[in-house]
Amino acid sequence: MRLHQLIRSLSPRRTFATTTMPHPGFVGKCVLAPMVRSGELPMRLLSLKYGADAVWSPEVVDKGIIGCERVVNEKYGTIDFVKGNLAPQGGKPDERIVFRTLPAIEKEKLIFQIGTANPELAVEGAKIVAKDVAGIDVNSGCPKHFSIHSGMGAALLKNPDNLIAILTSLVREVGTPNSLPISVKIRLLDTLEETLSLVERICSTGVCRITVHCRTTPMRPREPAIRSQLSAIASLCHAHNVQCYANGDIKSVTDAEAVIAEHGVDGAMIATAAEANPSCFRSEGLLPWKDVVDEYFRTAIEVGHYFSNTKFSVAHLVPGKASIYQELAKTKTFEAMAGVLGVEYVSTEEDRMREPQQKVKGPKPNPPGSAKVTKSMQRSQKATGMVKPRGENAQNAQHGDGLVRAVSSSPNGERKENGQQQQGKKRSEREGSVERKQMTDNQNKRQKILEEPTKRQRSRERLSVAEDMGSKMSEAF
Ligand SMILES: Cc1cc2nc3c(=O)[nH]c(=O)nc-3n(C[C@H](O)[C@H](O)[C@H](O)COP(=O)(O)O)c2cc1C
Repeated sequence: MRLHQLIRSLSPRRTFATTTMPHPGFVGKCVLAPMVRSGELPMRLLSLKYGADAVWSPEVVDKGIIGCERVVNEKYGTIDFVKGNLAPQGGKPDERIVFRTLPAIEKEKLIFQIGTANPELAVEGAKIVAKDVAGIDVNSGCPKHFSIHSGMGAALLKNPDNLIAILTSLVREVGTPNSLPISVKIRLLDTLEETLSLVERICSTGVCRITVHCRTTPMRPREPAIRSQLSAIASLCHAHNVQCYANGDIKSVTDAEAVIAEHGVDGAMIATAAEANPSCFRSEGLLPWKDVVDEYFRTAIEVGHYFSNTKFSVAHLVPGKASIYQELAKTKTFEAMAGVLGVEYVSTEEDRMREPQQKVKGPKPNPPGSAKVTKSMQRSQKATGMVKPRGENAQNAQHGDGLVRAVSSSPNGERKENGQQQQGKKRSEREGSVERKQMTDNQNKRQKILEEPTKRQRSRERLSVAEDMGSKMSEAF
């Protein structure tokens, strides 16, 4: 499908009767939640196509977007925020894209979510995307170590002064000058009083919307969302002319309507249900998963999406018990994936560039335990997905073929001298052998699972593939 067809195929906006007050930005009530990895461009486009009123970007950390160059990509009609130093010369071009948007479809409906613990960095990061999005949202709910150890995400709930400083700066320096709504996504605190006192302070910053993930920070995703505080939070928000959106266990547009009606919130946000089938935004009900997967694949190709994330999302869209699941898990190219799906597809040079490299050219990696790891070796390892990219936006980066092989270089890094040399070598050899053993163990485990596709094994394989693809992230929020 060509770009103009994609645009034409968008569903008309749906509006619900609610207590909402007029506000700048999009009008609409049922939206796609921010989701690292799962909320990339094709998933956002599909959600809009099926009826989502707005879509949140995956969280991008302030330092990840700062320093990006804004590149208009005429081939795909996208705007790419590209970081030069992510993939040094020789790296695959897509590894440099920190954030990609398709303005023809998304611009009025895309909220960019930023991860931050610092007002100045938040402002600097938000300014980079301000002209290309419909709002900026601050993530104040992620409980995962990578967020909270640096004061971001849910850590901001424990440091409200900093959260307020961030939101105030964003409203003053990015929101007001660009007429851009600023919002925040929080979690519940332990008591209603604590939550309301935080919400009251947030409302005074000039934000337009607070989304409440109806779980407390320690709660895991599988624990049912708590809705008992919602009505009180919504009333307080409305008293300050701030919108309140609910999130947590909302599975469909019908659920969204029910939550809006019952709790008086202005909108509802869907995450995991949309990750599994974005047609949950359709008023008419879910489409069969196969139709959605095929559409996802076509959209991914249409917008030049990268292979590993395409595979990651397909793994969520295809039920584990589906007969093609195992086959899909083994694919390493778009062509192979199209073959398994039975979708018409002609491979192009650009598509092949976004697939995992099969052969590594250039210097061979030193054997584990050897001292020197050159820059070009690191590049080769990164290109093959053997090491995670470094840097603050590694969280948003891709992992080669989507099957991350954790191989680290010797931690002593440099060659040991004289007396220490022998000792260092032994230690390196020990570490090398542990790494080799772990790799072999992992390979054996995977092989065994693939050879015995019983029902139990299939579910283990699903878990293993999903873990390899980084879906531990799901546990994060
Ligand atoms: C794969 C995945 C990635 C997520 N990434 C983010 C994120 O980047 N920012 C954020 O605020 N929440 C993130 N979340 C949390 C969701 O936005 C949402 O709050 C949570 O899943 C609860 O909604 P649900 O019950 O509809 O799944 C993520 C959730 C999942 C499953």
